[in-house]
Amino acid sequence: TGGVTTIDPGYKNTGSCESGITFLDGEKGILRYRGYSIEALAEKADFLEVAYLLIFGELPSKVQLDKFHNDIKAESHVDEDMKKILDGFPKSAHPMGVLSALTSALIAFNPTSVNVDSEEEMYTTIVKLLAKFPVLASWALRKKKSQPLDYGDNSLGYVANLHKMMFSKANEEYKADQSVIDALDKLLILHADHEQNCSTSTVRIVGSAHAGLFASISAGISALWGPLHGGANQAVIEMLEAIKEDGGDTKKYMAKAKDKQDPFRLMGFGHRVYKNFDPRAKIIKVAADDVLNMLGIEDPVLDIAKGLEKEALEDQYFVDRKLYPNVDFYSGIIYRALGIPVEMFTVMFALGRLPGWIAQWKEMRERKEPIGRPRQIYTGENFREFAPVSER
Ligand code: SDX
Repeated sequence: TGGVTTIDPGYKNTGSCESGITFLDGEKGILRYRGYSIEALAEKADFLEVAYLLIFGELPSKVQLDKFHNDIKAESHVDEDMKKILDGFPKSAHPMGVLSALTSALIAFNPTSVNVDSEEEMYTTIVKLLAKFPVLASWALRKKKSQPLDYGDNSLGYVANLHKMMFSKANEEYKADQSVIDALDKLLILHADHEQNCSTSTVRIVGSAHAGLFASISAGISALWGPLHGGANQAVIEMLEAIKEDGGDTKKYMAKAKDKQDPFRLMGFGHRVYKNFDPRAKIIKVAADDVLNMLGIEDPVLDIAKGLEKEALEDQYFVDRKLYPNVDFYSGIIYRALGIPVEMFTVMFALGRLPGWIAQWKEMRERKEPIGRPRQIYTGENFREFAPVSER
Protein backbone atom coordinates (compact mmCIF):
# COMPACT_ATOMS: atom_id res chain seq x y z
CA THR A 1 0.00 0.00 0.00
CA GLY A 2 2.63 2.53 1.00
CA GLY A 3 5.11 1.59 -1.69
CA VAL A 4 8.79 1.01 -0.83
CA THR A 5 11.35 3.79 -0.89
CA THR A 6 14.80 2.56 -1.82
CA ILE A 7 17.54 4.23 0.20
CA ASP A 8 20.21 5.92 -1.89
CA PRO A 9 23.31 3.91 -0.81
CA GLY A 10 25.33 7.09 -1.15
CA TYR A 11 23.21 8.82 1.50
CA LYS A 12 25.69 10.27 3.99
CA ASN A 13 25.73 9.47 7.70
CA THR A 14 22.74 7.17 7.90
CA GLY A 15 23.93 5.95 11.26
CA SER A 16 26.78 3.74 10.06
CA CYS A 17 30.21 5.31 9.82
CA GLU A 18 33.89 4.77 9.16
CA SER A 19 36.07 4.80 12.24
CA GLY A 20 39.70 4.09 13.05
CA ILE A 21 39.32 3.63 16.80
CA THR A 22 38.07 0.13 17.68
CA PHE A 23 38.06 -3.02 15.60
CA LEU A 24 36.00 -6.05 16.50
CA ASP A 25 35.38 -9.31 14.70
CA GLY A 26 32.19 -10.90 16.03
CA GLU A 27 32.87 -14.29 14.48
CA LYS A 28 36.44 -14.60 15.77
CA GLY A 29 35.87 -12.82 19.09
CA ILE A 30 38.52 -10.18 18.34
CA LEU A 31 38.52 -6.75 20.02
CA ARG A 32 41.31 -4.18 19.48
CA TYR A 33 41.62 -0.52 20.58
CA ARG A 34 43.70 1.39 17.98
CA GLY A 35 45.21 -1.96 16.90
CA TYR A 36 46.16 -3.20 20.39
CA SER A 37 44.39 -6.38 21.56
CA ILE A 38 42.02 -6.10 24.50
CA GLU A 39 43.90 -9.00 26.13
CA ALA A 40 47.23 -7.13 26.04
CA LEU A 41 45.72 -3.83 27.22
CA ALA A 42 43.77 -5.47 30.07
CA GLU A 43 46.93 -7.26 31.20
CA LYS A 44 49.62 -4.60 30.70
CA ALA A 45 48.08 -1.09 30.54
CA ASP A 46 46.23 1.06 33.04
CA PHE A 47 42.93 2.79 32.40
CA LEU A 48 44.34 6.30 31.94
CA GLU A 49 46.84 5.00 29.35
CA VAL A 50 43.99 3.30 27.50
CA ALA A 51 41.90 6.50 27.67
CA TYR A 52 44.82 8.42 26.14
CA LEU A 53 45.27 5.73 23.45
CA LEU A 54 41.59 5.78 22.46
CA ILE A 55 41.32 9.57 22.40
CA PHE A 56 44.66 10.53 20.82
CA GLY A 57 45.44 7.36 18.87
CA GLU A 58 48.80 6.41 20.43
CA LEU A 59 49.96 4.91 23.73
CA PRO A 60 51.41 7.88 25.70
CA SER A 61 55.03 8.29 26.73
CA LYS A 62 55.63 8.78 30.48
CA VAL A 63 55.89 12.55 29.94
CA GLN A 64 52.66 12.64 27.93
CA LEU A 65 50.81 10.47 30.46
CA ASP A 66 52.00 12.56 33.43
CA LYS A 67 50.94 15.79 31.68
CA PHE A 68 47.56 14.27 30.79
CA HIS A 69 46.98 13.22 34.39
CA ASN A 70 48.15 16.58 35.79
CA ASP A 71 45.87 18.45 33.40
CA ILE A 72 42.98 16.26 34.55
CA LYS A 73 43.80 16.85 38.23
CA ALA A 74 43.81 20.61 37.60
CA GLU A 75 40.21 20.38 36.37
CA SER A 76 38.84 18.03 39.05
CA HIS A 77 36.89 20.70 40.93
CA VAL A 78 33.14 20.82 40.31
CA ASP A 79 31.26 24.07 40.90
CA GLU A 80 29.64 24.09 44.35
CA ASP A 81 26.33 25.24 42.82
CA MET A 82 26.13 21.90 41.01
CA LYS A 83 25.32 20.43 44.40
CA LYS A 84 22.02 22.28 44.41
CA ILE A 85 21.02 20.18 41.39
CA LEU A 86 22.12 17.01 43.16
CA ASP A 87 20.16 18.03 46.26
CA GLY A 88 17.02 18.32 44.13
CA PHE A 89 16.99 14.56 43.46
CA PRO A 90 15.18 12.16 45.79
CA LYS A 91 17.42 9.47 47.34
CA SER A 92 15.43 6.95 45.32
CA ALA A 93 16.63 8.44 42.01
CA HIS A 94 18.54 5.96 39.83
CA PRO A 95 22.22 6.98 39.65
CA MET A 96 22.20 6.82 35.84
CA GLY A 97 19.47 9.48 35.72
CA VAL A 98 21.39 11.62 38.20
CA LEU A 99 24.63 11.21 36.22
CA SER A 100 23.01 12.07 32.89
CA ALA A 101 21.41 15.20 34.35
CA LEU A 102 24.57 16.39 36.14
CA THR A 103 26.70 15.77 33.04
CA SER A 104 24.39 17.94 30.99
CA ALA A 105 24.32 20.57 33.76
CA LEU A 106 28.12 20.85 33.55
CA ILE A 107 27.61 22.93 30.39
CA ALA A 108 26.02 25.73 32.41
CA PHE A 109 29.15 25.99 34.57
CA ASN A 110 31.59 25.46 31.68
CA PRO A 111 29.98 27.40 28.81
CA THR A 112 33.12 27.46 26.66
CA SER A 113 33.14 23.63 26.61
CA VAL A 114 30.99 23.73 23.45
CA ASN A 115 33.82 25.39 21.50
CA VAL A 116 36.06 22.67 20.12
CA ASP A 117 37.23 24.21 16.85
CA SER A 118 40.87 24.47 17.89
CA GLU A 119 42.98 21.54 19.08
CA GLU A 120 43.52 23.35 22.38
CA GLU A 121 39.79 23.93 22.96
CA MET A 122 39.08 20.26 22.15
CA TYR A 123 41.80 19.11 24.57
CA THR A 124 40.58 21.41 27.36
CA THR A 125 36.98 20.22 27.00
CA ILE A 126 38.03 16.56 27.01
CA VAL A 127 40.23 17.00 30.08
CA LYS A 128 37.43 18.83 31.92
CA LEU A 129 35.03 15.95 31.30
CA LEU A 130 37.51 13.20 32.24
CA ALA A 131 38.19 15.13 35.45
CA LYS A 132 34.64 15.98 36.52
CA PHE A 133 32.77 12.84 35.42
CA PRO A 134 34.18 10.60 38.20
CA VAL A 135 33.29 13.31 40.74
CA LEU A 136 29.68 13.34 39.50
CA ALA A 137 29.54 9.53 39.50
CA SER A 138 30.73 9.48 43.11
CA TRP A 139 28.13 12.13 43.99
CA ALA A 140 25.39 9.86 42.55
CA LEU A 141 26.52 7.02 44.82
CA ARG A 142 26.96 9.09 47.97
CA LYS A 143 23.57 10.72 47.46
CA LYS A 144 21.98 7.26 47.38
CA LYS A 145 23.83 6.27 50.54
CA SER A 146 23.13 9.64 52.27
CA GLN A 147 26.86 10.13 52.75
CA PRO A 148 28.77 13.44 52.71
CA LEU A 149 30.52 14.05 49.38
CA ASP A 150 34.23 13.26 49.10
CA TYR A 151 36.39 15.73 47.15
CA GLY A 152 39.04 13.18 46.25
CA ASP A 153 42.80 13.27 46.62
CA ASN A 154 44.88 14.35 43.65
CA SER A 155 47.92 12.55 45.01
CA LEU A 156 46.19 9.29 44.08
CA GLY A 157 46.00 7.67 40.65
CA TYR A 158 42.92 8.28 38.49
CA VAL A 159 41.12 5.04 39.41
CA ALA A 160 42.25 5.07 43.06
CA ASN A 161 40.91 8.62 43.38
CA LEU A 162 37.59 7.51 41.88
CA HIS A 163 37.47 4.66 44.38
CA LYS A 164 38.22 7.04 47.26
CA MET A 165 35.52 9.51 46.19
CA MET A 166 33.02 6.66 46.04
CA PHE A 167 33.94 4.61 49.09
CA SER A 168 35.84 6.72 51.62
CA LYS A 169 34.21 6.73 55.04
CA ALA A 170 33.76 9.96 57.00
CA ASN A 171 36.15 10.11 60.02
CA GLU A 172 38.29 7.28 58.65
CA GLU A 173 41.57 7.63 56.74
CA TYR A 174 41.15 6.21 53.22
CA LYS A 175 43.44 3.29 52.48
CA ALA A 176 43.53 2.11 48.84
CA ASP A 177 43.64 -1.70 48.56
CA GLN A 178 45.81 -1.94 45.43
CA SER A 179 44.36 -5.29 44.41
CA VAL A 180 40.85 -3.76 44.44
CA ILE A 181 42.06 -0.73 42.45
CA ASP A 182 43.75 -3.06 39.93
CA ALA A 183 40.53 -5.08 39.49
CA LEU A 184 38.52 -1.89 38.98
CA ASP A 185 41.14 -0.55 36.56
CA LYS A 186 40.91 -3.73 34.47
CA LEU A 187 37.09 -3.60 34.39
CA LEU A 188 37.15 0.02 33.21
CA ILE A 189 39.61 -0.90 30.42
CA LEU A 190 37.34 -3.75 29.28
CA HIS A 191 34.43 -1.31 28.97
CA ALA A 192 36.36 1.58 27.41
CA ASP A 193 35.10 1.34 23.84
CA HIS A 194 33.19 -1.01 21.62
CA GLU A 195 32.79 0.42 18.13
CA GLN A 196 29.34 1.64 17.10
CA ASN A 197 27.18 0.23 19.93
CA CYS A 198 23.88 1.86 20.85
CA SER A 199 25.22 4.49 23.28
CA THR A 200 28.26 5.36 21.17
CA SER A 201 26.06 5.79 18.10
CA THR A 202 23.88 8.07 20.24
CA VAL A 203 26.90 10.16 21.25
CA ARG A 204 28.01 10.44 17.62
CA ILE A 205 24.60 11.33 16.20
CA VAL A 206 23.83 13.93 18.90
CA GLY A 207 27.32 15.35 18.41
CA SER A 208 26.86 15.41 14.62
CA ALA A 209 24.32 18.22 15.17
CA HIS A 210 27.22 20.10 16.83
CA ALA A 211 25.67 19.75 20.27
CA GLY A 212 28.53 20.06 22.79
CA LEU A 213 30.53 17.12 24.12
CA PHE A 214 28.86 17.21 27.57
CA ALA A 215 25.35 17.20 26.03
CA SER A 216 26.30 14.35 23.68
CA ILE A 217 27.72 12.26 26.53
CA SER A 218 24.61 12.94 28.62
CA ALA A 219 22.55 11.43 25.78
CA GLY A 220 24.91 8.44 25.61
CA ILE A 221 24.43 7.82 29.35
CA SER A 222 20.67 7.63 28.81
CA ALA A 223 21.09 5.09 26.00
CA LEU A 224 23.50 2.98 28.06
CA TRP A 225 20.97 2.89 30.92
CA GLY A 226 18.67 0.61 28.92
CA PRO A 227 18.55 -3.02 30.18
CA LEU A 228 19.24 -4.35 26.68
CA HIS A 229 22.51 -2.38 26.69
CA GLY A 230 24.65 -1.31 29.66
CA GLY A 231 21.75 -1.70 32.07
CA ALA A 232 22.12 -5.47 31.53
CA ASN A 233 24.88 -5.70 34.18
CA GLN A 234 22.38 -4.65 36.85
CA ALA A 235 19.69 -6.92 35.31
CA VAL A 236 22.10 -9.91 35.36
CA ILE A 237 22.65 -9.71 39.11
CA GLU A 238 18.93 -9.18 39.74
CA MET A 239 18.25 -12.28 37.58
CA LEU A 240 20.91 -14.39 39.36
CA GLU A 241 19.59 -13.27 42.75
CA ALA A 242 16.04 -14.22 41.70
CA ILE A 243 17.27 -17.67 40.62
CA LYS A 244 19.08 -18.08 43.94
CA GLU A 245 15.98 -17.01 45.91
CA ASP A 246 13.95 -19.41 43.79
CA GLY A 247 16.09 -22.34 44.90
CA GLY A 248 18.84 -22.07 42.26
CA ASP A 249 16.89 -23.97 39.59
CA THR A 250 18.70 -22.75 36.46
CA LYS A 251 16.83 -25.21 34.22
CA LYS A 252 13.54 -23.41 35.03
CA TYR A 253 15.02 -20.09 33.88
CA MET A 254 16.59 -21.60 30.80
CA ALA A 255 13.10 -22.86 29.86
CA LYS A 256 11.62 -19.41 30.48
CA ALA A 257 14.30 -17.83 28.27
CA LYS A 258 13.31 -20.19 25.42
CA ASP A 259 9.56 -19.80 25.86
CA LYS A 260 8.32 -17.42 23.17
CA GLN A 261 5.28 -16.61 25.28
CA ASP A 262 7.54 -15.48 28.10
CA PRO A 263 9.25 -12.05 27.70
CA PHE A 264 12.06 -13.25 30.00
CA ARG A 265 15.52 -13.21 28.45
CA LEU A 266 18.72 -14.56 29.94
CA MET A 267 20.35 -11.24 30.81
CA GLY A 268 24.06 -11.11 30.02
CA PHE A 269 23.65 -13.48 27.07
CA GLY A 270 23.62 -12.64 23.38
CA HIS A 271 25.12 -9.79 21.40
CA ARG A 272 24.37 -7.81 18.24
CA VAL A 273 27.88 -8.47 16.90
CA TYR A 274 29.60 -11.27 18.84
CA LYS A 275 28.16 -14.47 17.45
CA ASN A 276 30.89 -16.36 19.19
CA PHE A 277 32.44 -15.60 22.60
CA ASP A 278 32.79 -11.99 23.80
CA PRO A 279 36.53 -11.68 24.51
CA ARG A 280 35.78 -9.33 27.40
CA ALA A 281 33.53 -11.91 29.06
CA LYS A 282 36.36 -14.46 29.00
CA ILE A 283 38.72 -12.02 30.76
CA ILE A 284 36.08 -10.91 33.26
CA LYS A 285 35.15 -14.50 34.13
CA VAL A 286 38.78 -15.21 35.17
CA ALA A 287 38.95 -11.86 36.99
CA ALA A 288 35.76 -12.70 38.91
CA ASP A 289 37.36 -15.87 40.24
CA ASP A 290 40.58 -13.99 41.09
CA VAL A 291 38.84 -11.12 42.89
CA LEU A 292 36.57 -13.38 44.94
CA ASN A 293 39.50 -15.64 45.90
CA MET A 294 41.64 -12.59 46.76
CA LEU A 295 38.90 -11.10 48.93
CA GLY A 296 38.00 -14.49 50.36
CA ILE A 297 34.39 -14.14 49.23
CA GLU A 298 32.18 -17.13 48.55
CA ASP A 299 29.40 -15.78 46.32
CA PRO A 300 26.75 -18.42 45.49
CA VAL A 301 25.62 -16.17 42.66
CA LEU A 302 28.95 -16.83 40.88
CA ASP A 303 28.27 -20.57 41.05
CA ILE A 304 24.77 -20.02 39.63
CA ALA A 305 26.28 -17.91 36.82
CA LYS A 306 28.79 -20.62 35.95
CA GLY A 307 26.03 -23.26 36.02
CA LEU A 308 23.84 -21.15 33.75
CA GLU A 309 26.72 -20.58 31.32
CA LYS A 310 27.51 -24.30 31.19
CA GLU A 311 23.86 -25.18 30.50
CA ALA A 312 23.48 -22.48 27.84
CA LEU A 313 26.64 -23.57 26.00
CA GLU A 314 25.21 -27.09 25.77
CA ASP A 315 21.65 -26.02 24.90
CA GLN A 316 20.69 -26.34 21.23
CA TYR A 317 18.37 -23.30 21.32
CA PHE A 318 21.24 -21.11 22.57
CA VAL A 319 23.83 -22.76 20.34
CA ASP A 320 21.61 -22.33 17.25
CA ARG A 321 21.15 -18.62 18.06
CA LYS A 322 24.83 -18.15 18.95
CA LEU A 323 23.95 -16.82 22.39
CA TYR A 324 27.08 -16.59 24.56
CA PRO A 325 27.84 -14.67 27.75
CA ASN A 326 28.61 -11.01 27.00
CA VAL A 327 30.58 -8.38 28.88
CA ASP A 328 27.71 -7.84 31.33
CA PHE A 329 27.35 -11.45 32.46
CA TYR A 330 30.22 -11.62 34.98
CA SER A 331 31.05 -7.94 35.56
CA GLY A 332 28.31 -7.46 38.17
CA ILE A 333 29.75 -10.26 40.29
CA ILE A 334 33.04 -8.39 40.55
CA TYR A 335 31.36 -5.03 41.19
CA ARG A 336 29.40 -6.69 44.00
CA ALA A 337 32.53 -8.22 45.47
CA LEU A 338 34.12 -4.73 45.39
CA GLY A 339 31.20 -3.42 47.45
CA ILE A 340 29.55 -1.48 44.62
CA PRO A 341 25.75 -1.32 44.98
CA VAL A 342 23.84 -2.94 42.10
CA GLU A 343 22.23 0.33 41.01
CA MET A 344 25.73 1.72 40.41
CA PHE A 345 26.81 -1.09 38.07
CA THR A 346 25.77 0.76 34.93
CA VAL A 347 27.44 3.93 36.24
CA MET A 348 30.66 1.86 36.40
CA PHE A 349 30.04 0.88 32.78
CA ALA A 350 29.64 4.57 31.89
CA LEU A 351 32.88 5.46 33.72
CA GLY A 352 34.68 2.85 31.65
CA ARG A 353 33.00 3.85 28.37
CA LEU A 354 33.66 7.57 28.79
CA PRO A 355 37.01 7.66 26.93
CA GLY A 356 35.51 5.63 24.09
CA TRP A 357 32.57 7.98 23.76
CA ILE A 358 34.94 10.95 23.81
CA ALA A 359 37.24 9.39 21.20
CA GLN A 360 34.35 8.60 18.87
CA TRP A 361 32.83 12.09 19.28
CA LYS A 362 36.22 13.74 18.66
CA GLU A 363 36.77 11.62 15.52
CA MET A 364 33.31 12.54 14.17
CA ARG A 365 33.89 16.29 14.77
CA GLU A 366 37.47 16.29 13.43
CA ARG A 367 36.29 14.54 10.28
CA LYS A 368 33.63 17.25 9.93
CA GLU A 369 30.97 14.58 9.37
CA PRO A 370 27.54 15.83 8.24
CA ILE A 371 24.57 15.80 10.63
CA GLY A 372 23.32 12.27 11.17
CA ARG A 373 20.13 11.55 9.25
CA PRO A 374 19.13 7.84 9.10
CA ARG A 375 16.62 7.10 6.34
CA GLN A 376 13.58 4.75 6.39
CA ILE A 377 11.61 2.32 4.28
CA TYR A 378 8.15 3.97 4.14
CA THR A 379 5.37 1.45 4.89
CA GLY A 380 2.45 3.83 5.55
CA GLU A 381 -0.57 4.98 3.51
CA ASN A 382 -0.38 6.26 -0.07
CA PHE A 383 -1.69 9.79 -0.85
CA ARG A 384 -5.23 10.43 0.47
CA GLU A 385 -7.60 13.39 0.03
CA PHE A 386 -8.60 15.22 3.23
CA ALA A 387 -12.16 14.45 4.39
CA PRO A 388 -13.98 17.01 6.60
CA VAL A 389 -15.15 15.68 9.94
CA SER A 390 -18.80 15.74 8.74
CA GLU A 391 -17.87 13.04 6.21
CA ARG A 392 -15.77 10.77 8.50
C1 SDX B 1 25.98 -4.62 25.64
O1 SDX B 1 26.54 -3.48 20.83
C2 SDX B 1 27.47 -3.53 21.76
O2 SDX B 1 28.65 -3.56 21.52
C3 SDX B 1 26.94 -3.53 23.21
C4 SDX B 1 27.96 -3.81 24.30
C5 SDX B 1 28.96 -2.69 24.40
O3 SDX B 1 30.09 -2.96 24.85
O4 SDX B 1 28.60 -1.51 24.12
O5 SDX B 1 28.63 -5.02 24.04
C6 SDX B 1 27.30 -3.92 25.67
O6 SDX B 1 24.97 -3.98 25.50
C7 SDX B 1 25.97 -6.13 25.72
C8 SDX B 1 24.50 -6.71 25.59
C9 SDX B 1 23.86 -6.63 26.98
N1 SDX B 1 22.43 -7.00 26.90
C10 SDX B 1 21.96 -8.16 27.43
O7 SDX B 1 22.67 -9.03 27.97
C11 SDX B 1 20.45 -8.31 27.36
C12 SDX B 1 20.09 -9.73 26.94
N2 SDX B 1 20.48 -9.88 25.55
C13 SDX B 1 19.46 -9.72 24.54
O8 SDX B 1 18.48 -8.78 24.84
C14 SDX B 1 20.01 -9.68 23.12
O9 SDX B 1 20.86 -10.73 23.00
C15 SDX B 1 20.70 -8.43 22.62
C16 SDX B 1 19.85 -7.22 22.77
C17 SDX B 1 21.99 -8.22 23.32
C18 SDX B 1 21.01 -8.67 21.14
O10 SDX B 1 19.81 -8.76 20.51
P1 SDX B 1 19.76 -9.19 18.95
O11 SDX B 1 21.08 -9.40 18.32
O12 SDX B 1 18.83 -8.21 18.32
O13 SDX B 1 19.19 -10.59 19.02
P2 SDX B 1 17.73 -10.86 18.62
O14 SDX B 1 16.84 -10.06 19.51
O15 SDX B 1 17.64 -10.71 17.13
O16 SDX B 1 17.59 -12.39 19.03
C19 SDX B 1 17.93 -13.42 18.11
C20 SDX B 1 17.27 -14.66 18.71
C21 SDX B 1 15.79 -14.41 19.06
O17 SDX B 1 15.16 -15.67 19.02
P3 SDX B 1 14.32 -16.04 17.62
O18 SDX B 1 13.32 -14.92 17.42
O19 SDX B 1 15.39 -16.09 16.53
O20 SDX B 1 13.69 -17.38 17.89
O21 SDX B 1 17.93 -14.96 19.97
C22 SDX B 1 17.00 -14.82 21.03
C23 SDX B 1 15.84 -13.97 20.50
O22 SDX B 1 14.64 -14.27 21.21
N3 SDX B 1 17.73 -14.15 22.12
C24 SDX B 1 17.66 -14.51 23.39
C25 SDX B 1 18.55 -13.66 24.05
N4 SDX B 1 19.12 -12.81 23.19
C26 SDX B 1 18.61 -13.12 21.98
N5 SDX B 1 16.93 -15.46 24.01
C27 SDX B 1 17.11 -15.55 25.34
N6 SDX B 1 17.94 -14.78 26.08
C28 SDX B 1 18.67 -13.83 25.45
N7 SDX B 1 19.50 -13.06 26.17
